[in-house]
Amino acid sequence: MNAAKSIIDMRKIRCELAEPVGFVPTMGYLHEGHLSLIRRAKEENRSVVASLFVNPTQFAPHEDFESYPRDLHHDISLLEGLGIDVIFTPSVTELYPPGFSICIELGKITKRLEGASRPTHFRGVATIVAKLFNIVQPARAYFGQKDAQQLAVIRNMVTDLNMNLEIVSVPTIREPDGLAMSSRNASLNTEQRQAAMVLYQALKLSEILWSKGEKDAEKIRQKMLSLTQQEPLARVDYISVADAETLEELETVKPPALVSIAVKIGGTRLIDNVILS
Ligand code: PAJ
Repeated sequence: MNAAKSIIDMRKIRCELAEPVGFVPTMGYLHEGHLSLIRRAKEENRSVVASLFVNPTQFAPHEDFESYPRDLHHDISLLEGLGIDVIFTPSVTELYPPGFSICIELGKITKRLEGASRPTHFRGVATIVAKLFNIVQPARAYFGQKDAQQLAVIRNMVTDLNMNLEIVSVPTIREPDGLAMSSRNASLNTEQRQAAMVLYQALKLSEILWSKGEKDAEKIRQKMLSLTQQEPLARVDYISVADAETLEELETVKPPALVSIAVKIGGTRLIDNVILS
């Protein structure tokens, strides 16, 4: 496995890679969810590049950039086991040198859900992902359905800016009790970890209601909300039943609908979603 820290090194190594190149951007602290993206990229490409970079521009000043979990040595050992070709671990100044001033402005898809709670988040995500695409020049890039709105934003960016690559979405990997794997789960204590199950329970409830014929989106939201409120450690940020493409809230469920939830447990903000199809 090659390791590149600088853009120049990454580009040099990129020239030698067998085509097509699959790319998996991450912020590290890898878990099975990340690894499933990498395995999929391995299956579908002759070379695979993964990046590990905790991107400061997607965190607001009051958010958890400083405390975001990091363990580069462990990440490298996991990636070595998967047999990928290149790991790209740039520094903040490598990607954002003094004077850096451009960022990608996005359309109204980012005003909802995560974007409503984190107004500058997707601008930072789109900017770093565009930069990484320019550096790595992959044929395909892999993103998790776990971050459904991020996936939609990246797809929009690739279409609207005519970027020459395919975006592949990969299903959410969960713990045995249903909690979606996330680097942030590491910040939960035992009690909070127990409480975090409520996200998946609420999403499951939406699937049950839908399978029993409930089409009234507001009823689904309300029932999910009451269930979540039964968990004293959970503070709901939003519960949404929206069109899976535009992310506009629905009155009547029309598949495919994206049901998503964001909850704060202690200081940790968790998100998850399912698709009603
Ligand atoms: P990060 O949170 O590290 O996630 C990297 C990729 O792993 C994303 O595409 C995310 O959706 C996917 N992922 C996370 N948890 C998953 C799970 N349980 N199952 C399947 N896939 C999962 O998302 C980011 O980093 C950043 O915003 C990034 C795109 C790297 C830009 O900085």
